[in-house]
Amino acid sequence: MSDQSDINAARDRISSARSIAVLTGAGISADSGVPTFRGDGGLWKQFRAEALATPEAFESHPEIVWEWYHWRRKIIAEKRPNPAHDALVVLERSCSDFTLITQNVDGLHLLAGSRKIIELHGSLWRVRCTDCGRTTENRSLDLPPLPACEGCHALLRPDVVWFGEAINPVDLQKSLEACRSAEVFLVVGTSGVVQPAASFASLAKAHGAFTIEINTVDSELVDCDAWLTGRASEMVPQLIGSL
Ligand code: APR
Repeated sequence: MSDQSDINAARDRISSARSIAVLTGAGISADSGVPTFRGDGGLWKQFRAEALATPEAFESHPEIVWEWYHWRRKIIAEKRPNPAHDALVVLERSCSDFTLITQNVDGLHLLAGSRKIIELHGSLWRVRCTDCGRTTENRSLDLPPLPACEGCHALLRPDVVWFGEAINPVDLQKSLEACRSAEVFLVVGTSGVVQPAASFASLAKAHGAFTIEINTVDSELVDCDAWLTGRASEMVPQLIGSL
């Protein structure tokens, strides 16, 4: 566990900051029961996420990639936000200049009530037509194995960002602006191996932010100013309290 003095120092920074940005990864949803991508439970069948979450995999085996997403949608539909998601809603409401950047596609931040949010990697709960490009919200758990666009009948795909694909430029721009202007940058539950999010903390630090990391283990992120060891569902509420 982290030293109480580290937590207190980080809390002081948060309570006096005029601008705060937060980056979350799969670790924040782990305490809701959502499997992470790396580490224990990171495999689906024999596949790693990097093997399935690519345009090439979808092109050659759309039925396998969709099967993985159908499986994830069913699991995640039963999950609820945990105290870490809830605490970030409290933080958002206490700070006028706040941005939550999440790499998660599970929708749990929105379900908790976060609104100033950038879903950098998209959402499991949206689908996009591979032909006409129409994007729609879709929470059905009974999609056919290969769902089709209602408009043009072409194949739908999950509206998520796969490896080798570009992040939505507006989302990226807003994220970079939040990193550059944040007085405090908090990172929760990411292994820090997937770009561009893996560089956000160092960018924020280079622009003067006090950086705080919460993780259960050492991640690949560069040195943050405060490193709080523990589960997100315990550490984030401890850090944010009832601001
Ligand atoms: N509390 C805090 N951190 C946790 C917890 C927890 N309860 N459980 C796990 N972690 C940490 C792990 O130690 C790990 O560092 O969360 C991190 C999860 O790492 P990944 O599974 O790699 O997830 P993430 O960093 O979000 O992955 C980035 O990779 O596969 C792609 O697009 C996918 O958005 C994803 C991206």
